[in-house]
Amino acid sequence: MCKIAICPGSFDPITNGHLNIIERGLKIFDKLIVAVAVNVTKKPIFEPQERLEMLKEIFKDSKHVEVDSFKGLLVEYAKKRGVKAILRGMRNMSDYEYESQLVLANKTLDPDVEFIYMMTEGKYAHLSSSIIKEVITFGGSGCGMIHPIVEKRLKDKLRAEIKT
Ligand code: PNS
Repeated sequence: MCKIAICPGSFDPITNGHLNIIERGLKIFDKLIVAVAVNVTKKPIFEPQERLEMLKEIFKDSKHVEVDSFKGLLVEYAKKRGVKAILRGMRNMSDYEYESQLVLANKTLDPDVEFIYMMTEGKYAHLSSSIIKEVITFGGSGCGMIHPIVEKRLKDKLRAEIKT
């Protein structure tokens, strides 16, 4: 039986912390569906289509990673894809609080869906999409924090925003 999990997130943009979870997740699952989703509590800088494009470029040679996006509820998407496992990373206690709410809400909607968590590796524990946006906005380097494809897109986007 092929073990598949969905790895959902805003990915606005994807960080090396996310990439590390995906890489390690592939040691447990045969295939991961990395899915761009809408988090209504966040105001994204990239359109879902732009985030999807970045992920497609990054994973273009990965046979075991499928990139997708969805609108609406995660449990509905999981049902549509016939997948019961959701893989997420966790960095700290504030992630824990947020993730436990996410799990309980999702389990109320569909008790069959299971969430599997991997602790973020220490060297990525400080990384977040918002910290990276700030670093790039003020001219810092994204080296070690984001994929070069993401750094280029982020610089283009943030520079264009500063000019307008
Ligand atoms: O990267 P994020 O922002 O922490 O990811 C959160 C995400 C996108 C996985 C979550 O907001 C989500 O599942 N959104 C889809 C809508 C949904 O199902 N929300 C949860 C209902 S409780």
